Amino acid sequence: MDSKEFRQQGHEIIDWIADYLDHADRFPVMSGVKPGEIRDLIPPRAPEEGEPMDRIFRDFQEGILPGVTHWNHPRFFAYFPANNSGPSILGELLSAGLGVNAMLWQTSPAATELEEMMMVWLRDLVGLPGSFHGVIQDTASTATLCALLCARERATGFAANEHGLAEAGHLRIYCSSEAHSSVVKGAKIAGFGAAALVPVAVDAARAMDPGDLDRKITADLAAGLKPCCVVATVGTTSTTAIDPLSAVGPVARRHGLWLHVDAALAGTAAILPQMRWILEGAEHADSLVFNPHKWLFTNFDCSAFFVQDPEHLEHTLTINPDYLKTDRDDEVHNYRDWGIQLGRRFRALKLWFVLRRFGARKLREMVAAHIALAGEFAAWVGGDPDWELLAPVPLNTVCFRWNPRDRTLDPDALNAGNKALMDAVNAAGRIYLTHTVLDGRFTLRLAIGQTATRRVHVEEAWEELRAHVPRR
Ligand SMILES: Cc1ncc(COP(=O)(O)O)c(C=O)c1O
Repeated sequence: MDSKEFRQQGHEIIDWIADYLDHADRFPVMSGVKPGEIRDLIPPRAPEEGEPMDRIFRDFQEGILPGVTHWNHPRFFAYFPANNSGPSILGELLSAGLGVNAMLWQTSPAATELEEMMMVWLRDLVGLPGSFHGVIQDTASTATLCALLCARERATGFAANEHGLAEAGHLRIYCSSEAHSSVVKGAKIAGFGAAALVPVAVDAARAMDPGDLDRKITADLAAGLKPCCVVATVGTTSTTAIDPLSAVGPVARRHGLWLHVDAALAGTAAILPQMRWILEGAEHADSLVFNPHKWLFTNFDCSAFFVQDPEHLEHTLTINPDYLKTDRDDEVHNYRDWGIQLGRRFRALKLWFVLRRFGARKLREMVAAHIALAGEFAAWVGGDPDWELLAPVPLNTVCFRWNPRDRTLDPDALNAGNKALMDAVNAAGRIYLTHTVLDGRFTLRLAIGQTATRRVHVEEAWEELRAHVPRR
């Protein structure tokens, strides 16, 4: 492709994206294709000769697009948001254009130093203490894995890195029963094993019970096991419950355990002064992650990982073959040693674009609007006798179910009815929402956080849900 063709196709694709972002609501939110339908459209072998871009782009629109679920649709309420924005997409495009590999300072000083400064900006925006130093990871799952590795190396005096875990004893990780599945995945990958995970009890709001944490650690010590790490969640996946860091932190500290905070979604909310409380006690944490790629208008992937002791992180993950050594290594950060992978994308660019183009005030306004809409939706649910709220709503996510006013449906019928309701609403294509299970109850979740979502879209969601309640 020569630059003339690149320019022409590039303009066309940018135009297409601009129209798409303006009118994503023309599409059904959730793709309705059947398994294998898209695969069957793709020839079994790569073409021998290059094809014209026009044809490729046409096939994208006609063949691929029907298999896309529209995460940036204003009526996407499933899982958690993965929102994006114009500035972010342009930053991502520039990053692709530069094609930089930001593995070392020397391989692009701007990539490293902009990333350092973006982590300072983010740290200060969410009110973390200045003792935290940050690095961008691809996902919260990777950041949590890094934290578990740091904890493992602290507990074993770096012996696990050298000799494996055979001599390490029974290392234990504590997290609430509501913690994200990335913790168990990290425990498996880092060699602790899933059995190392100790589920800590939660209170009525599904937040970690610090008393139970203390008891579980003490019992493990008495049994000769080796407590190693606590993972607290600020904004659990099911209900956005918030573990109390100011109570959990001192327990972890007293026992000398690494404290990692998974604030994947909720961390963004701390840019609001009125929501700062969710990170109160974060000064006790050794590490913390939150995802601008969830709720800070920065397209996937971009996960902000902070540690109090970057030297420990580097010591845990360093590799230093001759071919990666540079003359500047003593003066600079080489981010390759702050994460799992060697090669790294220039993600700071899109974050810089987002933070500058919107500015903190506008970002706060947009996040506050999502939280306010979740509060309104919760009030509609709570005020209707045929529905019920199933969890507190501290942030942007509402957990609820249909439960007809006479309350005579048995638990199985309620579960089946709510599942049928969710399937019917999603198949209709106007909105998309997903579920969780709370104490055996099939629970609908409405997560509000897309860039284009406004009150009217949330009203439509409420309409759509009420229009699809099962016939009795
Ligand atoms: C609390 C929590 N932690 C971690 C994750 C995983 O995030 P990622 O996809 O960035 O690994 C999620 C995803 O929803 C989450 O809700």
